[in-house]
Amino acid sequence: MPPRKLLVFSIIFFFFHSSAHNVSFDFPSFSLRNFTLLGDSYLRNGVLGLTRELGVPSSSAGTVIYNNPVRFHDPETNSTASFSTKFSFSITNINPDSSGDGLSFFLSPENRTLGSPGGYLGLVNSSQLTQNKFVAIEFDTRMDPHFEDPNDNHVGLDVESLISIKTGDVMLQEISLKSGNAITAWIDYKKDQEKLKIFLSYSNLKPDNPVLSVDIDLSKYLKENMYLGFSASTEGSTELHLIENWSFSTYGFLKLRSRLNPHNVSDNTVMMTPMIPARNSSSNDHKRLGLGLGIAGPAFFLVVLVVFGYVSLRKWKSFKTQKSFKSDVLAGPREFTYRELKLATKGFHSSRIIGHGAFGTVYKAFFDGSGTIAAVKRSRHSHEGKIEFLAELSIIACLRHKNLAQLQGWCVEKGELLLVYDYMPNGSLDKLLYQEQQQPGKGENVLSWSHRHNIAVGLASVLTYLHQECEQQVIHRDIKTGNVLLDGNFNPRLGDFGLAKLMDHDKSPVSTLTAGTMGYLAPEYLQYGKATEKTDVFSYGVVILEVACGRRPIERETGGQKMVNLVDWVWGWHSEGKIIEAADKRLVGEFREEEMRKLLLVGLSCANPDSAERPSMRRVLQILNNEAEPVAVPRLKPSITFSCGLPLTLDDIVSDDDDEYEIKITSV
Ligand SMILES: *[C@@H]1O[C@H](CO)[C@@H](O)[C@H](O)[C@H]1NC(C)=O
Ligand SMILES: *[C@@H]1O[C@H](CO)[C@@H](O)[C@H](O)[C@H]1NC(C)=O
Ligand SMILES: *[C@@H]1O[C@H](CO)[C@@H](O)[C@H](O)[C@H]1NC(C)=O
Ligand SMILES: *[C@@H]1O[C@H](CO)[C@@H](O)[C@H](O)[C@H]1NC(C)=O
Ligand SMILES: *[C@@H]1O[C@H](CO)[C@@H](O)[C@H](O)[C@H]1NC(C)=O
Ligand SMILES: *[C@@H]1O[C@H](CO)[C@@H](O)[C@H](O)[C@H]1NC(C)=O
Ligand SMILES: *[C@@H]1O[C@H](CO)[C@@H](O)[C@H](O)[C@H]1NC(C)=O
Ligand SMILES: *[C@@H]1O[C@H](CO)[C@@H](O)[C@H](O)[C@H]1NC(C)=O
Repeated sequence: MPPRKLLVFSIIFFFFHSSAHNVSFDFPSFSLRNFTLLGDSYLRNGVLGLTRELGVPSSSAGTVIYNNPVRFHDPETNSTASFSTKFSFSITNINPDSSGDGLSFFLSPENRTLGSPGGYLGLVNSSQLTQNKFVAIEFDTRMDPHFEDPNDNHVGLDVESLISIKTGDVMLQEISLKSGNAITAWIDYKKDQEKLKIFLSYSNLKPDNPVLSVDIDLSKYLKENMYLGFSASTEGSTELHLIENWSFSTYGFLKLRSRLNPHNVSDNTVMMTPMIPARNSSSNDHKRLGLGLGIAGPAFFLVVLVVFGYVSLRKWKSFKTQKSFKSDVLAGPREFTYRELKLATKGFHSSRIIGHGAFGTVYKAFFDGSGTIAAVKRSRHSHEGKIEFLAELSIIACLRHKNLAQLQGWCVEKGELLLVYDYMPNGSLDKLLYQEQQQPGKGENVLSWSHRHNIAVGLASVLTYLHQECEQQVIHRDIKTGNVLLDGNFNPRLGDFGLAKLMDHDKSPVSTLTAGTMGYLAPEYLQYGKATEKTDVFSYGVVILEVACGRRPIERETGGQKMVNLVDWVWGWHSEGKIIEAADKRLVGEFREEEMRKLLLVGLSCANPDSAERPSMRRVLQILNNEAEPVAVPRLKPSITFSCGLPLTLDDIVSDDDDEYEIKITSV
């Protein structure tokens, strides 16, 4: 038989006759009998949905796992299967302002693989990054610098980490993953070639060129039994991830018939020979081959060495430049040296001070090397601040939301604790909101209504995330305009987690009151000192009333000495049926009346003295996004009595010469 024919025949033999363990199935539509749904996934009309089907920005993660394990490794022959799969999916972005995060097809030795929302794609547990084992192909719709994503529209091969081994730009094939159109994906892994290829198309015709081709031997990761599934996640976004249909097959296990049937030596044995070079044989062919290798070996080895050396050097170089670029611009939190921060802040020079936080001074830092700017928070009382600093660090490190202040790194040296954040060019919300009052000349700088509305929605989104959507509920405890920072586009970033305490869901609120700002504190918090999600909702309500009215939570009556509480003041207008009168006069009517009315009413309902009447943050978000009916607000502010009266009255607290009207309560 001519060698070429032999090879073709071998391959045919290889695929069809030796594959005793091959698996093949096809789901034109899905049913609950064959799949396990984990997390937020669901099944509707035979279509699998992976993330929560809500039209509001939400954070969600879901996994669907095919119940039957699939055999990928044959210990008898020590061979790993090849596989090919095809599925159709669609990713729909309901609200184009938000996007993320994408879906994955994965193979895992476990049948309970479920990860966290956000950039974790429902695949990786954010608190235990190495817990879930998988080989996954990601279809990523969000650029996630933590995971070194190239853009927000790519496919990638991920092995036990979300930092892809290789990514492919889907745009090159003119495909937009989150267009909402059905997209068909083909994934082929050929063990003999050690090659994985991914093809994508809007049609049912497999294109000629893959979007991604990776040279990889997966045999280390493909265990004897693997579970197959799909996962997806969102984070503060409205993406829907659907799988319409799916087919899958494995093939290509080696099977040494000669060994199993020693007396039934057929042509097969001979034909297998070229496929299994490592096999023991004493044939002349192999001897000759061995001789040839013996001579060519050293020369070959030398060539390989030179090539390897060259490639390594190049890789090392590109790794180095990539790394220094990355750590300055992209990476997640990292450790800074004290020297670095001292240099960047001119030795913590007073000219670099941009603010004072709950536990320290904030400096503007310029990193000469990279030309980047950051905000550095330096603990004032290194001793007392320590615990709060560490609390902030441990909390922020695990949280990810577009409306959270992004931590770049930290430094614990010389008995000091320093935190490095993204620098927010527009400073804090209170400065922006009240600048005109401080500098009456600057009339044009009034924050526009669309920015204000965007701030209210962004804060609702991040608080929904903190309260309901991250793994462990986070109560912020210190929501106030001074803690809302604004990026270059006036998007809000909630910061200052010094007071936040991680609380397990359904545990009773921790009864420690360390500090807070009067006017933002819910009555029951003042009374009992217990922070709950409802006390955060109250503070949020005060913040959005400030945003709508341009007034501080407690303000001196114009021309008078009496202190006016913002909530009471707005409620007064509401009682008279003239709530729109509460709108910030500096906007000179440039706002949508309907939106303004809604924001004021939401503010009042959040600041309801009766905590049970306050809506949840998710509800607030739905209302602001026109997804839910507003909460009815009673005409008269409900009065609420505690078993013993409030220990303090406003007048007791606000001293006349307190310029900022901020009263720190250290104990109740
Ligand atoms: C799988 O193996 C069976 C026999 O074991 C064979 O009938 C079938 O054609 C094979 N399927 C594939 C896709 O190779
Ligand atoms: C799978 O679903 C897509 C989108 O609905 C459809 O175009 C395609 O024909 C389906 N394929 C199969 C094999 O059912
Ligand atoms: C789906 O589940 C049914 C019932 O358990 C079973 O008979 C069928 O073989 C399964 N189909 C596949 C492709 O696993
Ligand atoms: C199985 O094959 C792999 C390479 O594919 C090799 O590293 C391993 O040692 C082999 N195991 C056995 C038991 O032969
Ligand atoms: C996972 O697999 C184990 C056996 O390995 C089985 O007992 C269990 O029921 C499976 N769980 C699910 C959710 O399928
Ligand atoms: C992550 O792992 C922890 C600890 O094993 C577990 O409690 C938590 O439920 C896991 N999270 C997810 C999303 O699976
Ligand atoms: C030898 O192989 C043939 C098919 O290749 C089979 O029909 C026969 O049963 C085998 N004989 C033995 C002893 O295994
Ligand atoms: C290779 O052949 C030798 C003798 O021919 C034998 O002793 C050895 O066990 C064989 N090795 C394998 C892996 O079959």
